[in-house]
Amino acid sequence: MKVPGKLLRAVALTALPVCLFTLQPDWANAESPSKMPDTVTANGYHRKWWKEAVVYQIYPRSFQDSNGDGIGDLKGITSRLDYIQRLGVNVIWLSPHYDSPNADNGYDIRDYRKVMAEFGTMEDFDALLKGIKQRHMKLILDLVVNHSSDEHRWFVESRKAKDNPFRDYYIWKPAKDGKEPGAPGSEPNNWTSFFSGSAWKLDPATGEYYLHLFAEKQPDLNWENPKLRAEVYDLMKFWLDKGVDGFRMDVIPFISKNQSFPDLTPAQLEHPEFTYAMGPRLHEYLQEMNRNVLSKYDVMTVGEAFGVTLDQTPSLIDERRNELNLVFNFSAVRLDQDHGTWRQWTLPELKAIYAQQDQKLDVHSWNSIFLSNHDNPRPVSSFGDDSAAFRVPSAKLIATMLFTLKGTPFVYQGDELGMTNYPFKAIEDFNDIAVINAWKAKVVTGKVSKDEFLENIRRTSRDNARTPMQWDASSNAGFTTGAKPWLAVNPNYKDVNAAQETADAHSVYNYYRRMIEVRRGAPALIYGDFKDLDPAHASVFAYTRTLGAASYLVVLNFSGTPIEYVLPAGVKAGHLAIGNLERNAKDSGDSGSTLHLAPWEARVYRQ
Ligand code: NOJ
Repeated sequence: MKVPGKLLRAVALTALPVCLFTLQPDWANAESPSKMPDTVTANGYHRKWWKEAVVYQIYPRSFQDSNGDGIGDLKGITSRLDYIQRLGVNVIWLSPHYDSPNADNGYDIRDYRKVMAEFGTMEDFDALLKGIKQRHMKLILDLVVNHSSDEHRWFVESRKAKDNPFRDYYIWKPAKDGKEPGAPGSEPNNWTSFFSGSAWKLDPATGEYYLHLFAEKQPDLNWENPKLRAEVYDLMKFWLDKGVDGFRMDVIPFISKNQSFPDLTPAQLEHPEFTYAMGPRLHEYLQEMNRNVLSKYDVMTVGEAFGVTLDQTPSLIDERRNELNLVFNFSAVRLDQDHGTWRQWTLPELKAIYAQQDQKLDVHSWNSIFLSNHDNPRPVSSFGDDSAAFRVPSAKLIATMLFTLKGTPFVYQGDELGMTNYPFKAIEDFNDIAVINAWKAKVVTGKVSKDEFLENIRRTSRDNARTPMQWDASSNAGFTTGAKPWLAVNPNYKDVNAAQETADAHSVYNYYRRMIEVRRGAPALIYGDFKDLDPAHASVFAYTRTLGAASYLVVLNFSGTPIEYVLPAGVKAGHLAIGNLERNAKDSGDSGSTLHLAPWEARVYRQ
């Protein structure tokens, strides 16, 4: 048969990138990004190493203690690098490791060029980075530059006098309308802090207020000041020159403030983050940062897009704008919360979030996929079912979704073991400043009852994610040899721990490994077009991912009941590539278009 030349050329053009993938299934593990061919996928995406990576987040305080002081440290992380590498991840995101008085566990930085004493020394950091590189992984650091600690040298100077050279490194304002500083209602405006109360704190030394959108010990930096911006760019270079591969940027959309500092309306005060974010000079600052620093390195950046709407998102990550690579959008991870209060979420809502993200982000923007981090409860407790019967399959189902949606997946430490929320009983069980301050503001003042507060906070608290990593069944789960870890270990560690799970072929850990492997070898699961087949179904999430000729069908039963699921017209299940119940299609009595899904069953078919 004679094939017309025009048709041959068209096939070659669309199929070429796909062929490359087939020939090089392990491209995501390329040692150096420069080895990555500069290609465009069949559906128009520019290939980038950070789009193909799987990121693993480490909260150093809770990962592994090496010296028995009850606090995780850098040497501890280095000792666990083989475990992380075996999982198959490519990038580690390290939550802040810098010198800090720990008002907010490291998100209040005293010295951006020094390692926190509890975590070790700069030699320990260098050894960690070396160990990561030796294992062909990359490291991104947390960049916390919306605010510093009040113990940072800049702030110590700044607060001394109005004419101090560092005064303008922070945001200082006099009392409102000439009122007496400290008098009720004399704060410069009505902005509130995310950690309760006013966002302004009076400093008696000069009688002015400074802005702190988070804790009092986290004064906001003044990005209007070019000297401050130059200092930030310098400290970024300091770490990049050591060889780190990028940054996760803490609340980066807040760095530019509306300089008229207007009072918020009652409606705006319901969700102040949407007013604090996307200030007038944000794009200018990010482009300057990109020009002066990021463009000179081959790095990955991911901004914490708290307060950013989906409509605004492309303006931060469209690759033609040279600002950020990715952002974290909070719609999915906070679906079970409303104003910080737990709510019952529904699957169609979750599906709609992913569908909307897919629609709004075109080929020039790339998504991040995550259902947890150090600020959120455990995904198996919030989005799965952490009961004894369903913890394992539902944790695996969540993994199936994470690794088959379009975007770079982020795994938070311990989720690969199916670690669960902690059974908090009393306020004394918590460490988080957000909880302690909210308790003072709500319970101590009598606005909310103790029981109501605890009932909610045990489901929503960030401390759920911060309990120590469960390594084995020895005391304190092998996290520390000390008598007491800084935060209690979850009592389920004897059943849920890494030693047991790495040895068990059917564990959550080994399912994560296999899923990551399947994703790595399947370009369609990374770049493929996404289509939700059944947006309204209350319990089943069924979607396809298609790239050129390759297509995958993902079917997830998000419920504790068996379901006979008839695939939408025209769709038939193909070859089962992976499933969380590790059985083949015949075992479930399935025909091509009717699937008998067990509770929390997840399947990925190659079509
Ligand atoms: C977001 C961080 O993820 C969170 O842990 C921290 O408390 C705030 N930003 C303030 O830095």
